[in-house]
Amino acid sequence: MSVRIVATIPFTDQKPGTSGLRKKVRVFQAANYLENFVQSIFDSIAAPRGSTLTVGGDGRYYNREAIQIILKMAAANGFGRVLVGQGGILSTPAASCVIRKYQTFGGIVLSASHNPGGPDGDFGIKYNIGNGGPAPEKVTEAIFARSKAMAEYRILDAADIPLDVIGETRLGDMTVQVIDPVSDYAELMETLFDFGAIRSLLAGGFRLKFDAMHAVTGPYAREIIEKRLGAPAGSVMNAVPLPDFGNGHPDPNLTYAHELVEIVYGAAAPDFGAASDGDGDRNMILGKGFFVTPSDSLAVLAANATLAPGYRNGLAGIARSMPTSAAADRVAQALGVPCYETPTGWKFFGNLMDAGKVTLCGEESFGTGSDHVREKDGLWAVLFWLNILAVRRQGVEAIVREHWARYGRNVYSRHDYEGLPTESANGVMQHLHDSFAVLTGSQLGSYKVVFCDDFSYIDPIDGSVSTGQGVRIGFGDGSRIVFRLSGTGTEGATLRIYLEAYEPDVSKHHLDAQVALAELIGIALQVSQLRERTGRTEPTVIT
Ligand code: G1P
Ligand code: ZN
Repeated sequence: MSVRIVATIPFTDQKPGTSGLRKKVRVFQAANYLENFVQSIFDSIAAPRGSTLTVGGDGRYYNREAIQIILKMAAANGFGRVLVGQGGILSTPAASCVIRKYQTFGGIVLSASHNPGGPDGDFGIKYNIGNGGPAPEKVTEAIFARSKAMAEYRILDAADIPLDVIGETRLGDMTVQVIDPVSDYAELMETLFDFGAIRSLLAGGFRLKFDAMHAVTGPYAREIIEKRLGAPAGSVMNAVPLPDFGNGHPDPNLTYAHELVEIVYGAAAPDFGAASDGDGDRNMILGKGFFVTPSDSLAVLAANATLAPGYRNGLAGIARSMPTSAAADRVAQALGVPCYETPTGWKFFGNLMDAGKVTLCGEESFGTGSDHVREKDGLWAVLFWLNILAVRRQGVEAIVREHWARYGRNVYSRHDYEGLPTESANGVMQHLHDSFAVLTGSQLGSYKVVFCDDFSYIDPIDGSVSTGQGVRIGFGDGSRIVFRLSGTGTEGATLRIYLEAYEPDVSKHHLDAQVALAELIGIALQVSQLRERTGRTEPTVIT
């Protein structure tokens, strides 16, 4: 087996977004595209010779081919060992768990998260550092800079490595160790949650449905929920990961997880419903005919954290992304712990967790997690809820309503306008920037604008600055509208509008969010000129 040095020319578009490099499968299949990016990672991270790397993906189309290339390139670039999930599978949180547990130098995760898969779908690759978390911006920027100057990559000439049997294979001077993708993660969950209490809840007739959406969490959920916790077979639906996710869009929200939604809003609804996304880091929580917004879910987990053994000693602090509602802030205040507001994207939580400043983190985009790993974690959130339900013996809806009664309700919704022409989306953002001065201090219907800005963040640990993180319009009563362009799309531009209104009055807590937010929605459309500039009259997805 010999190392081949392949001459290549740089691609100009290998800039990692909110969560790694995401492109159409066909882009990744183009000659040298994946290889150039992988070499850029290896050149930038400069792992000492003989280092260990973790590799796995969400099982989407092109996962196996990409893993073979990465293994051969890792061998040619001096790695000593690669831990790879059996069948090339590792959910994003499980990859984080493996990196941390075995202290590997870092890890490569192949996923485009919730974006559709298949030959015409999306593919993605992200690098995680030794703490198990997404590479921080200084690392992704170095990778991008390197990609623009890429002239050659190194790859071992070798036959494909068997990935389906647990065990070790030699690849040149490197060992490929195929590991069980589920067991390390499942063990970690057992240390955090009261499996005994959840088992007895389930044994008492409590019914649940978990939708793996034909994506990576199927094997994890079957092992943990059905096998270790004893839920009846079939409690996990769409449990077999498929390369095209069964032609679905593996994004756990009310629009894309409609199969589950119909079940939990149907006649024979189970007590609890949940879903996870393509790579297993997102979650959606549902009660019988009741949807828990991710922002509320974070707040409820924080308020009830000490009911779970792993969090019995309380929380050091909470962090949420800027567009996430301030529901968690109210809990943090009551608990007397700090609450941090970070830009969108999980990579901003890593430093806070490493420094011991926060225990729980969350994003409105169906992402919740804690310092047990350095990624958001879908099944973890599901188990956390089950632990709380098992101790409190109340329904999901009752728990959320009690929470609102105590803290007030941060009524929340996000409206996404997907697939916009980039120019008109940029035009909307530019128009908003140009309106800051006029808007500030103005009265819009019953709302008075108290501030208007583009969010920027100074990392309290390393002092790094991130600017241009989203336009905020803040109102006198704490209500907010936020506008942001997505950093994970692969086609055109996606404009997200985040709407939040604070409602302390319990008699109004029953209102549907879209009804309660109607005036703010109108203001958002008016000040952004979105309809005029894009020709769109309705959002593509409402969450
Ligand atoms: C989206 C979400 C963000 C999340 C990211 C990765 O990014 O909004 O919260 O961290 O996916 O799952 P966006 O497309 O908005 O840049
Ligand atoms: Zn994901």
